[in-house]
Amino acid sequence: MSQLDNPSHQSQSASDRALHQARPAGADPYATEVYRWWHLSHPSPELRAALDEAWLVPPGRVLDLGCGLGTELAFLARQGFATVGVDLSAIALRRASARYGDVCFVQADVLALPFEAEVFDVLLDRGCFHYMPAERRAQYEHEARRVLRPGGRLLLRACLRAAGVRNDIDEATVHETFAHWRVRQLARTDIPSDTRRLEALIARLECP
Ligand SMILES: C[S@@+](CC[C@H](N)C(=O)[O-])C[C@H]1O[C@@H](n2cnc3c(N)ncnc32)[C@H](O)[C@@H]1O
Repeated sequence: MSQLDNPSHQSQSASDRALHQARPAGADPYATEVYRWWHLSHPSPELRAALDEAWLVPPGRVLDLGCGLGTELAFLARQGFATVGVDLSAIALRRASARYGDVCFVQADVLALPFEAEVFDVLLDRGCFHYMPAERRAQYEHEARRVLRPGGRLLLRACLRAAGVRNDIDEATVHETFAHWRVRQLARTDIPSDTRRLEALIARLECP
């Protein structure tokens, strides 16, 4: 069984703990190897499934919230979407821009998006929502709803652990935060990164 196939790798190994203990608070994870914890160098199975099942259909405008190195956006650009990514990490955005010239990358906070209302058809979030403190989740939802057109779609991957430690996110968190949205799918599963599997909730959400 490979490491990616083995769910026991969700728990922290000694090297994982050392990796995170070595990270100064607030440091840019893309300045070190920390990003390898979650980075996936090919489009995620749940994104492919959303396209295969025609829940996401090109063309349209896609915004990735906390886009990291932009892998999912580059894939969607090839499918015919116009793609924009936002992230706080200048290092990630520099690398993403160098790799993917057909994607627009903007340094911004997902809690204060620098876009007009209702300009996107699709939002992606793979691993950003769980960084929001509980008291900021309503603001995250407000910004997501503001920039999405009515009926627009959010493919959310909410991780259940940060640095290997279980957080407070569960199905109820998603239902409460997105109370006005239609929840088309909400499943607890392990999503792959290049180095491990990450326990997460996958949600398909439709904007009111
Ligand atoms: C777990 S990583 C996932 C990155 C990327 N989505 C992926 O799948 O590889 C979370 C990303 O969210 C970004 N992030 C965290 N808080 C953010 C915020 N308030 N606004 C914008 N980006 C944020 C981090 O810089 C990081 O790139």
